[in-house]
Amino acid sequence: MSTVIRNGTIVTHDLTWEGDVRIEGGRIVEIGDGLKGDTELDATGCYVMPGGIDPHTHLEMPFMGTYSADDFDSGTRAALAGGTTMVIDFALPAPGQAPLDALQMWHNKSTRAHCDYSYHMAVTWWSEQVFDQLPQVVARGITSFKHFLAYKGALMVNDEELFASFRRVREIGGVAMVHAENGDVVAELQRKLMAEGNTGPEGHAYSRPPQVEGEATNRAIMIADMAGVPLYVVHTSCEESHEAIRRARQQGKRVWGEPLIQHLTLDEAEYFHPDWDHAARRVMSPPFRDRQHQDSLWAGLQAGSLSVVATDHCAFTTEQKRYGVGDFTRIPNGTGGLEDRMPMLWTHGVATGRLTPNEFVAVTSTNAAKIFGMYPHKGTIAVGADADIVVWDPQKSKTITAASQQSAIDYNVFEGKEVKGLPRFTLSRGRVMVHDGELRGAEGHGQFVARKANGAVNTALSTWKDLIAPQPVPRSGIPASGV
Ligand code: URP
Ligand code: ZN
Ligand code: ZN
Ligand code: ZN
Repeated sequence: MSTVIRNGTIVTHDLTWEGDVRIEGGRIVEIGDGLKGDTELDATGCYVMPGGIDPHTHLEMPFMGTYSADDFDSGTRAALAGGTTMVIDFALPAPGQAPLDALQMWHNKSTRAHCDYSYHMAVTWWSEQVFDQLPQVVARGITSFKHFLAYKGALMVNDEELFASFRRVREIGGVAMVHAENGDVVAELQRKLMAEGNTGPEGHAYSRPPQVEGEATNRAIMIADMAGVPLYVVHTSCEESHEAIRRARQQGKRVWGEPLIQHLTLDEAEYFHPDWDHAARRVMSPPFRDRQHQDSLWAGLQAGSLSVVATDHCAFTTEQKRYGVGDFTRIPNGTGGLEDRMPMLWTHGVATGRLTPNEFVAVTSTNAAKIFGMYPHKGTIAVGADADIVVWDPQKSKTITAASQQSAIDYNVFEGKEVKGLPRFTLSRGRVMVHDGELRGAEGHGQFVARKANGAVNTALSTWKDLIAPQPVPRSGIPASGV
């Protein structure tokens, strides 16, 4: 059985051309003109692009006394509805829990996935056991390791742990990742704000100013440089953090930054909304920033100093958000966005002329596939690649509303926003999951994607670091010891 996508314009991160795509056995087997197949999908007027890869989601995540409301079922349905065909979630060991045990827990949750998925491993505490198990984690296809510099008393690691873990990640050929906010300063600002009566959701924004993100980003970059490991900075939300990444890249450091679609399109005024629920539903870390930071993030995508647009999809219901009535520090941190990332980025990026369609593909799919060791298996339209494809209709439009979303929560932070640019078809390994805009999920269709360690960037960086490593000076005639 073969499927042909006909009459579309194929867009990859580096090329745009007219052609048909033939799919068999879940993979792309031919690209050319006038192809025939058992099933034909008409892509007239559409762009045929690699399905989106969202490398930052938290599905059914245990966090702040509850679980995020979207699991691998609703979360991956949301992904497909918006043209995303793969997610990378985070396996999160509880403090004291072995990484391999956490990995098993995440494998148990993800059996319901409708699209392919992988995980990053979080390093939430440090011990000989963690040190010993990390190579086994890599052997299982998980090659990226996330560290939290925030969430003091929960997920946060200190600089000593960070440096030890970064050195280990270098040895095993992985990519280090960091949530960069200074958790000690945040905890102290939270305490002070609460003591002064700042108990509402706006306190969340006050407690996490751009400086705490800039400081932690600089610190993580320096520590990664000393460890000799490539670094991926998640949810880069402000100029201070972007500036650190931009400077590091200009200095030849191997650092990538990841703005979220929320930070690109929403601003801090949300936290000053008179309706408590409205403001609390938008509480996430880092918080939304004022407009000048949005301009910085868009410029970074254009300039190439920022590499990937993600969502950090971590959705909580209004009821869950209300745990924090009277104390903003108890509002579960996180917002949704999986279904909206691609249409919002197209509408505010490509349709406004800030991004080309090729740049859109790069930041929604290809760059993540390359950085996280699964290119060209994922992230491109090429013979031999998985047929994870979105047929994108730039004329199709809708108004975003929670009433029609796949996510399990009762609101949407983009409620009321008009988007133009939506999937006509979304294919996961050749199976049509969105057909003429209508979702046809297939629970359990998703497969785990094992990724490769020791990519070209790791090899180059390690080669360079070995070359410039401290060497003892060979000396003849060493003076006798004075003792
Ligand atoms: O507020 C957020 N971002 N929640 C999810 C966990 C994280 O920090 O990424
Ligand atoms: Zn984070
Ligand atoms: Zn996150
Ligand atoms: Zn595959």
